[in-house]
Amino acid sequence: MSALHQLVPAPWSFSAGTGELVLDAGTTVGADPELSGARRWLSRALGAATGWDLAPVPPQEAGIRLLLAPALDAEAYRLEVGDAVVISAGGAAGAFYAAQTLLQLMGPAALRQAPVAPAEAWPLPRVRVEDKPRFGYRGTMLDVARHFMPKDNVLRFIEVMAMHKLNVLHLHLTDDQGWRVQINRYPKLTETGAWRRESSLGSWRAGVFDGRPHGGFYTQDDLREIVAFAAERHITVIPEIDVPGHSQAAIAAYPELGAGDGPVEVWTRWGINETVLEVSETSLEFYRNVLDEVVDIFPSPWISLGGDEVPLTQWQASAQAQAKAAALGLDDVSGLHSWFVGQLALHLQSHGRATSVWDEIGDGGLPDGALVASWRGYEGGIDALRKGYDVVMCPEHKLYLDHRQADGDDEPVPVGFVTTLQAVYEFEPLPGVGNEDLPGRLLGAQANIWTEHLDSPRRVQFAAFPRLSAIAEVFWSNPENRDYDEFLNRLSGAHLARLEAMGVEYRPLEGPAPWQKRPGVEGWKRDYDAEQLVRN
Ligand code: ACM
Repeated sequence: MSALHQLVPAPWSFSAGTGELVLDAGTTVGADPELSGARRWLSRALGAATGWDLAPVPPQEAGIRLLLAPALDAEAYRLEVGDAVVISAGGAAGAFYAAQTLLQLMGPAALRQAPVAPAEAWPLPRVRVEDKPRFGYRGTMLDVARHFMPKDNVLRFIEVMAMHKLNVLHLHLTDDQGWRVQINRYPKLTETGAWRRESSLGSWRAGVFDGRPHGGFYTQDDLREIVAFAAERHITVIPEIDVPGHSQAAIAAYPELGAGDGPVEVWTRWGINETVLEVSETSLEFYRNVLDEVVDIFPSPWISLGGDEVPLTQWQASAQAQAKAAALGLDDVSGLHSWFVGQLALHLQSHGRATSVWDEIGDGGLPDGALVASWRGYEGGIDALRKGYDVVMCPEHKLYLDHRQADGDDEPVPVGFVTTLQAVYEFEPLPGVGNEDLPGRLLGAQANIWTEHLDSPRRVQFAAFPRLSAIAEVFWSNPENRDYDEFLNRLSGAHLARLEAMGVEYRPLEGPAPWQKRPGVEGWKRDYDAEQLVRN
């Protein structure tokens, strides 16, 4: 493969021709009917950056042609820039990825939302690209519960994901510190549960609070808009309603859901919380009703029920939980964890949806057809693959983008393991399993962006980029062509400028800019120890 291209993620095959094709205000775009969505997106994006109309014409007459090529896979495409731009795509997604590649070839200014200079003629290098994804699931999880991200910023984040050919946005919508999805039947979830009095400043261990209320939520129409915007960009939005732990915001709104004594407020600090849901018909009925509204908003084939980090303290002290465990024939209350998730998974199944869960659920039994997100290292995922489940790899010590990007005190706020750009670029989802025949399917992998310490979209961008650019290449590109120095050349040569054109405040390669630092805010640095993988 030529090292000359500047594309991120790198295409599977690239060859440069000679000379240029010049696009101008008379350029037309035409697509086979199956690919009209990609044509519409391309005309809008290119039209915005150039100021041109890019009138639609029949594909054979167009300067930019999007043609259906059924021999290719649905996400695969061929892009040839000769005397016209000819895109052959296996399906709508492939055509969309070809359109993204075309914009990248046109230079960073093609990613702006209005022309910065009159664009009379726009040269395009003559190239031939053949491309397809390595994995079908190329995910990013965004925690909008710990810190709410306003809708416009979510839409922009999706646009930047799409530029990287990522295709799953897992939205962590509920947690101890906030409930972010409007549920018509239970208005207090957002009236009460969507805001907190104040927040831990830095690690909760420091015991420092900011004294400032925080909150926000998405209306159902906001979420429908997010889902539709993502769908136009071939991104599936998986909502997460985290149970039976990470539920204090819901319990603050509806105290009858809780297993503990007395009312609680929306949690103001970070860390693992002993407050959990009571394993009762009241809780199950409540969450079935919540999920009925959630499946109506999100067409995703998977709905996440979370299921991570569930301390047993309250159930051990609860007569009701003890009685429930006994009635179910469980050895002790620990079995209630996966039983509860399993009950709600059955409800999702009745809606024709599969359940996504964090890998803890595998300790007690996975719902049928579950998708397992393996975050506590690789083992939970490998176990699930051995049992025939679908798996997405997102090990904390590799793909958590809230973790510090370098050693030292300058990283804001320095938490977790050192997770450098080079380290994420070298990620492999299934190292060390050799030739073992695993009956489950590895669908792909996911980068997770937790936001305890990312209190604004600027901070999320700092944590995400350019590491997410490197990760997108791991998820998409041919691993045999992976070369970190060459990736760095593309990053410095063109891709950071693309991010700048899109307004992304990434972390400079040499370290945080002064305004990106958070001096004096205490973090919690950890060294990686496979035996001690406890997130907190
Ligand atoms: C997680 O990081 N608790 C999934």
